[in-house]
Amino acid sequence: MLDLNGKNAFVTGIANNRSIAWGIAQQLHNAGANLGVNFLPDEKGRYEKKVRDLVEPLEPSIIMPCDVRNDAQIEAIADAIAKQWGRLDILIHCLAFANKEDLSGEFSQTSREGFSLALDISTYSLNRLTAAWKHLMTDGGSIVTLSYLGGVKVIPNYNVMGVAKAALEMSVRYLAAELGPQTIRVNAISAGPIRTLASSAVGGIMDMIHHVEKVAPLRRTVTQEEVGKAAAFLCSDLASGITGQVLYVDAGYEIMGM
Ligand SMILES: NC(=O)c1ccc[n+]([C@@H]2O[C@H](COP(=O)([O-])OP(=O)(O)OC[C@H]3O[C@@H](n4cnc5c(N)ncnc54)[C@H](O)[C@@H]3O)[C@@H](O)[C@H]2O)c1
Repeated sequence: MLDLNGKNAFVTGIANNRSIAWGIAQQLHNAGANLGVNFLPDEKGRYEKKVRDLVEPLEPSIIMPCDVRNDAQIEAIADAIAKQWGRLDILIHCLAFANKEDLSGEFSQTSREGFSLALDISTYSLNRLTAAWKHLMTDGGSIVTLSYLGGVKVIPNYNVMGVAKAALEMSVRYLAAELGPQTIRVNAISAGPIRTLASSAVGGIMDMIHHVEKVAPLRRTVTQEEVGKAAAFLCSDLASGITGQVLYVDAGYEIMGM
C-alpha cells in the first residue's frame, strides 16, 4: 500500500551511514521513489566522497552540493530538478547545525552569532528550500522535516537547538497553512535520540539515550530505519489527510510525565 513509484524525492542531510536522512532515503527507495540527494561541500571534499559511496546502491539521479546558506547552490538544484525530473514530489529536510560550545553549559551565554547561525541553518533553511523548490511541486507534494522534543520541553544542553526546533515546528504550521491549497503537505517527525554526527555534538547525548531506554514505554530509543518508515508514510498517499503535524517517533517517550 505504501507506493512511491513514479515519485521524485529530494533528500537533504545525508552525511554518513548513521544519518537519519540515510534511513529515510533507504525507505523512500524501497517504496519505489526516484532519489536526489545533496552533500555538504567542504574544501577537502570529505562529505562528497562519503555520500557518493554510500548512496550508490540507491542510484540517485541527482547528487549535488548544497550548503543551505548558499542560495546559488539551492537554485542550481532547482534547475537540475526542473531539467531532469520536471517535477518534485517529496522534500526531506533533515539537517541542523549549531556550534558545539552552544550545545552545553548556560543557554544565556549563547552568542549572537551562534544563535543566528543555528537558526539560519536549522530553521530558516526549511523556509528557503521550500520557497525555492515549491514551484516544482506541480502535482502536490510532501515536505517532511526533523524535530526533537527539546523544541517543546527543556532538555539539558540542547539549548539553542531547542529554540531552533521550536521555531521549526511553528514554521511547519505556517508553511502547511500556506501551501495546503496547492495540495502540498508539510509535517515534522520528532525523533527520539539517536547517535549520529550531529547528536554527538550535544553534551551528554549518551545519557539522554540511556534515560530514554529506561523510561520510554517501548524501553528503548528508535532507529534511523523506524524514522525512515514514518517519513515514507508521511510522504505517501496513506497520509493524504495529514498536514501541519508533528509526529513523534520516539518509542513513546513524549507521553511520559516521570
Ligand atoms: N540524532 C538525533 O538524536 C535526532 C533526534 C531528533 C531530531 N534530529 C534531527 O535530525 C536531523 C538530522 O540529523 P542527524 O542526527 O541525522 O545528524 P547528521 O549529522 O547525520 O545530519 C545532519 C546533517 O546536516 C547537514 N548540515 C549541517 N550544516 C549544513 C549546511 N549548512 N547546509 C546543508 N547541510 C548541512 C550535515 O551535512 C549532515 O548531513 C537534524 O535536523 C537533527 O536535529 C536528530
